[in-house]
Amino acid sequence: MIELTNLTKDYGTTLAVNHLSLNVAAGEIYGFIGPNGAGKTTTIRMMGGIIEPTAGSIIIAGIDLKKNPVTAKKIIGFVPDRPFLYEKLTGMEFLKFIADLYNVETQGLLRKSEELLKQFALWEWANEIIEAYSHGMKQRLIIAAALLHDPKVMIIDEPMVGLDPEAVRMVKDILKELAAQNVTVFVSTHTLSLAEDLCDRIGVIHKGTLLAQGTIAELNLVAKTGEARLEEVFLTLVREA
Ligand SMILES: Nc1ncnc2c1ncn2[C@@H]1O[C@H](COP(=O)(O)OP(=O)(O)O)[C@@H](O)[C@H]1O
Ligand SMILES: [Mg+2]
Repeated sequence: MIELTNLTKDYGTTLAVNHLSLNVAAGEIYGFIGPNGAGKTTTIRMMGGIIEPTAGSIIIAGIDLKKNPVTAKKIIGFVPDRPFLYEKLTGMEFLKFIADLYNVETQGLLRKSEELLKQFALWEWANEIIEAYSHGMKQRLIIAAALLHDPKVMIIDEPMVGLDPEAVRMVKDILKELAAQNVTVFVSTHTLSLAEDLCDRIGVIHKGTLLAQGTIAELNLVAKTGEARLEEVFLTLVREA
């Protein structure tokens, strides 16, 4: 569902992403981990069509993002690291606003909004202005909004930053539920325990280069760390890079 080939972003002074190649299958949760400045957000912005790659290709569900950006973006649900919310809108109004952007047809929209707000435990807050929401509620609303058009691929940058444990659990469960429905999830995080709990496979990126990828067991083989937890594997890989 996701095929990145030699994806590269050169900011002139910084080679933020360096010939990154990876594939993610349908229904898989792929965790993208790396230290600050590793190139996670740059990769995700390229995948969301926010910035142009310097080189390489991004194929989503067989569609080349560069050649058919509009078609590809219809399949993608995108959650940026610093999302923008119109805080004077209510949760319901915000979903309607986003639905208009995506051309979600009005008929199905009310039903879909209600379903999502209930699923994300926001239904009671549907008619309150977003300003009154907690950080966790805002984050859930943003993920809900990204799901309005039934994307096949969810691309999410650091969804857990600043969330309390209960909200983290809720977001985790939602992503697992999506994967169970065969949605492909690509999630960046620097929270290793999250990647460990949630992801089928993990890619470790450092200074723009993919150091290793696979299941925790496979990463342990690469790092020669036995049966260590992800934290140990990650630190070993990064230290030796
Ligand atoms: N717009 C930009 N212009 C120049 N350099 C950038 C820009 N955005 C990111 N960078 C640099 O690219 C590298 C990767 O950044 P980023 O993708 O944000 O990393 P991460 O999300 O993994 O923390 C960093 O060195 C960062 O300073
Ligand atoms: Mg980032």
